Amino acid sequence: MKTVKKKSVRLSQDTYPVHYKISVRPDFQTFTFEGAETIEIVLKKQTSEITLHAVELEIKSASLIQGKTEQKPKILFNKKLETATFKFAKPIQKGKAELQLSFTGVLNDKMRGFYRSRYEINGKEKWIATTQFEAVDARRAFPCFDEPVFKAKFEVTLIVPKDMEAISNTLPNKTAIDTNCKTVTFLPTPPMSTYLLAFIVGELEYIETKTKEGVLVRVFTTPGKKKQAQFALDVAVKTLSFYSKYFGIVYPLPVLDMIAIPDFAAGAMENWGAVTYRESALLVDENLSSLANKQWVALVIAHELAHQWFGNLVTMEWWTHLWLNEGFASFMEYLAVDSIFPSWEMWVQFTALENGSALRLDGLKNTHPIEVLVSDPSEINEIFDSVSYSKGASVLRMLSEYLGAETFRKGLSQYLKKYKYGNATTVDLWTSLEIVSKKPVRKIMDKWTSRPGYPVLTVMENENKVTVTQKRFFSNRIVAKKSNDSTLWNVPFSIVQKKIDLKEKYLLSGKTLFINKNGLFIKVNSGECSFIRVKYSSDLLQQLEVPIQKKKLSAVDRLGIIRDAFALSEAGEISIPQVLNLVKSFKEEEDYAVWIEIASYLRQIAQLISDENFLPEYEKYCREIFAISAQKVGWDKKKGEKHTDSLLRPLVLMSIGSYGDKKTIERAILLFKKIEKGERVDPELRSVIFNLAAENGDEKIFNTLIELYKKETLQQEKDRIGRALGAFKDKKILSMTLEFSLSGHVRSQSVIPMIAAVWGNPKGRSLAWRFVKKNWKTLHKRFAGGHLLARLLESADAFVTEKEAADLEQFFKKNPLPEASRTVAQSLEQIRSNTVWLTTDRESLKSFLTNA
Ligand code: BES
Ligand code: ZN
Repeated sequence: MKTVKKKSVRLSQDTYPVHYKISVRPDFQTFTFEGAETIEIVLKKQTSEITLHAVELEIKSASLIQGKTEQKPKILFNKKLETATFKFAKPIQKGKAELQLSFTGVLNDKMRGFYRSRYEINGKEKWIATTQFEAVDARRAFPCFDEPVFKAKFEVTLIVPKDMEAISNTLPNKTAIDTNCKTVTFLPTPPMSTYLLAFIVGELEYIETKTKEGVLVRVFTTPGKKKQAQFALDVAVKTLSFYSKYFGIVYPLPVLDMIAIPDFAAGAMENWGAVTYRESALLVDENLSSLANKQWVALVIAHELAHQWFGNLVTMEWWTHLWLNEGFASFMEYLAVDSIFPSWEMWVQFTALENGSALRLDGLKNTHPIEVLVSDPSEINEIFDSVSYSKGASVLRMLSEYLGAETFRKGLSQYLKKYKYGNATTVDLWTSLEIVSKKPVRKIMDKWTSRPGYPVLTVMENENKVTVTQKRFFSNRIVAKKSNDSTLWNVPFSIVQKKIDLKEKYLLSGKTLFINKNGLFIKVNSGECSFIRVKYSSDLLQQLEVPIQKKKLSAVDRLGIIRDAFALSEAGEISIPQVLNLVKSFKEEEDYAVWIEIASYLRQIAQLISDENFLPEYEKYCREIFAISAQKVGWDKKKGEKHTDSLLRPLVLMSIGSYGDKKTIERAILLFKKIEKGERVDPELRSVIFNLAAENGDEKIFNTLIELYKKETLQQEKDRIGRALGAFKDKKILSMTLEFSLSGHVRSQSVIPMIAAVWGNPKGRSLAWRFVKKNWKTLHKRFAGGHLLARLLESADAFVTEKEAADLEQFFKKNPLPEASRTVAQSLEQIRSNTVWLTTDRESLKSFLTNA
């Protein structure tokens, strides 16, 4: 937590923009652009200087017009603050004025600001010019008041080569064509923040339709790929209608364009009316995309479209409230996909995917509160993490459960209506929900967003009286011992005992609460709707074994019990043999989400003991855990099987195969040969096949994978192959993968995941870290300033020795990377947790495994 309060770097709000007229002309020969703009501003008081944001732009001319006077200011740049200050000889009076600027900039290859993306058509190189402005990169495309609070209308003109499409946030108003250029002027936007503006220029093709409310929806791709856009179009149309109805507010623009961009730093970006995506998050090939790919596409679309209301219509006042954007969109995406694909069991998946990942990250001391003071760009970039996204979504889920879904919806709708075209803060949202629900929402939610971490509820029984006590949970036992954090949360939660369809609701507002026990078992946090962990006494935990085995408890409840047990064993609160025994109750488990959590915690332990001599015994134990399930799912799709069963198959086969199951490996290698020969192989199985072939493969397999990678045009398939390239066991081959990642055959956006794949492989982790150190300059030059390097450094949490921790720490002392400083601190904390965990539990784990 940062305690020193930093000097504010925000612009003065005494001068603010109301209307921008911008024209931009990208040049595809020189990779530069020329721009001109007129900003209508309002001055609340007289001033002799105006400051706005500009980075890596050359301002060619500037003049300020007020009434009949025109002034040419002096311009001073501040590189650190990323601003340009215009100084005037004579003061500008209170009231309206017009700032006219012309400027040039570079169409960069860094996937931020106004940048270029490359693709090929029949071996010919082609370019798209596109934008990525969030969080603070609009200032790289045009001088502007680049803070979310400065909402203004934008009238954009794009001057582009005649054969290219020009896309911005609204529809074209007029288009003028001359011999080789096209000038497209777009309708003015509603008042909006700079980070949501977009320009996209390129040879693109598209498909289109209309929603039942009459909104035009289009999906753009590079030439030849529009047939992969149909699924996205269908989902977008349904999602748009869903939200219009849910929020009770029609989509405020005449068009929703969605554009697949070959080079793209994030997954997608919610620019108002012109949402951009990386190809793998938008395009679906009916023959080659897997159901997991499809589900991801649906979730990303639903996420970005939620932002059209939550974020775009109502925007956070400052980045401190980023979670109002991201937490919400991460919650809403499940709601929307669940309504479109009710059989996909999205809320069960939510428990593992969002809730689960947030509980992990937020169990570290080096987490941050959902609302966090941020000022400079690196601090802002740093908070696009699981706390803002997944914890944000999880606490909303908890609140929705507490208030009831319909009350929650009404509150949201009221909030959006009240603040539309404006900005809001967290308290504004709580207030709307409080008014609608008549419940103390602000009081209940306060600690969840203002404090880091979450509580673990300790549950103990004494003669049919159960006590529930809260304290902050830390996954790192050393941290836990030293901590004197005495935060008490208001915890709404429910329990089941006796009848599993009967929930008893409670609100824990002090340290302790008493409950009457009236059944054979008690499961706290039923439905896993609250953002907590639960620690049972040994007896109470044991009483849950039968309900787990007999599936007397729901899938999410089973999931909650086992993941908390794993986390508590890392924290030193229960013994590791106790957990591994409990896992045995899950041998007949059939639910996908439960298996996600089990597989991932078992993997974490495998990472922890990867250099121990009892690893083979552990692998045998894991094979036994997965055996029944592997038998059940088999290799072939069953007729009419449910969605999550299809997702379960690759998870289970991959796990048992990775732990060395011979039959599974043989089958995978056989199928790999089929792929090699170009025969059709089920897309659901391809990642298992690639990975197991690599894990057990030699240089020949490596070369085959490289060939497949190079010639593949579907990004999702490329990503699968790319990850498998990190799975080899031979260090020489892993080095070749690392070299390949920077060879120019791999798009920028895929470089980091490829290195991370090697890093996540116990055989490759030292190698990957050495490679990163050796190529630091290159990596820094290519990726610094965004969030990709932070993603890479998350991989460091798999190290297990103090020596590795110290090395990492040293390196970043010498080579500071501000946008990843928290990630590095988190990884260091995790490594040190691993170290104590391993030293303390090594012997008990070993004897458990060797005597089993
Ligand atoms: N607003 C973000 C895009 C973004 C991320 C901009 C980081 C700047 C920095 C967008 O809405 C988003 O959250 N995209 C996610 C996908 C989503 C389904 C979780 C992403 O890019 O990972
Ligand atoms: Zn988002």
